[in-house]
Amino acid sequence: MSLFRKKNIEHMLAGAQSAGLKKALGALDLTFLGVGAIIGTGIFVLTGTGAVQAGPALMISFLAAAVACGFAALAYAEFASTIPVAGSIYTYSYATLGELAAWVIGWDLMLEYGLATSAVSVGWSGYLQSLLAGFGISLPVALTAAPGAVPGVATLFNLPAFLVMMAITTLLSIGVRESTRINNVMVAIKVTVVLLVIAVGVFHVTPANWHPFMPNGWNGVFGAAAVMFFAFIGFDSVSSAAEEVRDPKRDLPIGIIASLGVCAVLYVAVAAVVTGIVPSAQFASISHPVSYALQVAGEKWVAGFIDLGAVLGMLTVILVMGYGQTRVIFAMSRDGLLPAALSKVHPRFATPFLTTWIVGIFFGLIGALVPLNVLAELINIGTLAAFSMVSVAVLVLRRTHPALPRAFRCPGVPVVPVLAVASCLFLMINLQAVTWVAFVVWLGLGLVVYFGYSRKRSKLT
Ligand code: ALA
Repeated sequence: MSLFRKKNIEHMLAGAQSAGLKKALGALDLTFLGVGAIIGTGIFVLTGTGAVQAGPALMISFLAAAVACGFAALAYAEFASTIPVAGSIYTYSYATLGELAAWVIGWDLMLEYGLATSAVSVGWSGYLQSLLAGFGISLPVALTAAPGAVPGVATLFNLPAFLVMMAITTLLSIGVRESTRINNVMVAIKVTVVLLVIAVGVFHVTPANWHPFMPNGWNGVFGAAAVMFFAFIGFDSVSSAAEEVRDPKRDLPIGIIASLGVCAVLYVAVAAVVTGIVPSAQFASISHPVSYALQVAGEKWVAGFIDLGAVLGMLTVILVMGYGQTRVIFAMSRDGLLPAALSKVHPRFATPFLTTWIVGIFFGLIGALVPLNVLAELINIGTLAAFSMVSVAVLVLRRTHPALPRAFRCPGVPVVPVLAVASCLFLMINLQAVTWVAFVVWLGLGLVVYFGYSRKRSKLT
């Protein structure tokens, strides 16, 4: 029965800092928060992979992924906002579903946050190299990408990806967090860059490139949707801010739908433009497809600005995801499920210093050594699984804890959570078999750690 032991909700509510957090955010702030966390490697880099797989129908793939995210986000928002403890769904599931489920969700979140930092560092590296190439600077080939990332090229280690992770880790370890101001600047940069792609690119589109529209049929479209889901990850940050929202009932759904909607519209337009400029198959092995399309169009200056904007804009995504990862590990360690050293706070910087560096070096090495496509699929399967569990949890909790005060209630229960689970599972099915194998191995490893270590050391024993 210890598998289902739970934290005491009343204690958590009493200990929660919620009363101290300012309720200052409105719908527009939430939308900015979401867009800032969402736009990154997905649109700037994976668009190339998606175009190879789906062809110009990549536009439909983006829409399919956005719809799945919308359902999941509404369910997620209820789960994340019910108990106003700052932090992640890990803590909340501990109070409501029990220790094992909390462990699985926490372990799973490492695939989302941790690996996402690796993936975005790889995307960042591609754009940095494109930017440097504009100045005639190139790195030794061996240091430009992970082994096997570029077919037929002897690459060994993605050095820029590793270095950017070390830089962000340094910031996180001394307590630099993203502020609303920086986020707003980054959102402005990213949205400007994306609009620039669309506004300039549209004049270079050759409609003949949109035929055939679906070279690999619906399989290609949904396979790409499962990969492009990555481009929307980060929308959960909107839900997690629930306790700082003035009017969560109204503002949360607006913030979620608006940030997903804005990104979906931008993504579809970018997909239309880049597949209209370059025949889709040509994107294979291009690490900076969006600026590449503009280079092909002869717009060298615009391409340079895109490189610069992408390099700046992706930094915040790494920062936000890295922060999330260290805090999940911190919470799991504080609960006794991971070694106590991982929740030690640095006396001067007031950060989980050791955890931050372990996480940074570990995921930095992964980014340097594993190709982006492999990473993206793994992140997606982990995130989709976590969101499915959360959506099921919303239904369970409506039955088991009907009276819990909920800052935000998911509309259309049970239909919306059921649709969320169904759409997440559908995307998961469209991922590759090898991704499933890796996922099962990862979960198995998690269970070994849990039963071999954490269960006996849990603070709840
Ligand atoms: N959605 C984020 C990105 O595309 C993770 O970089």
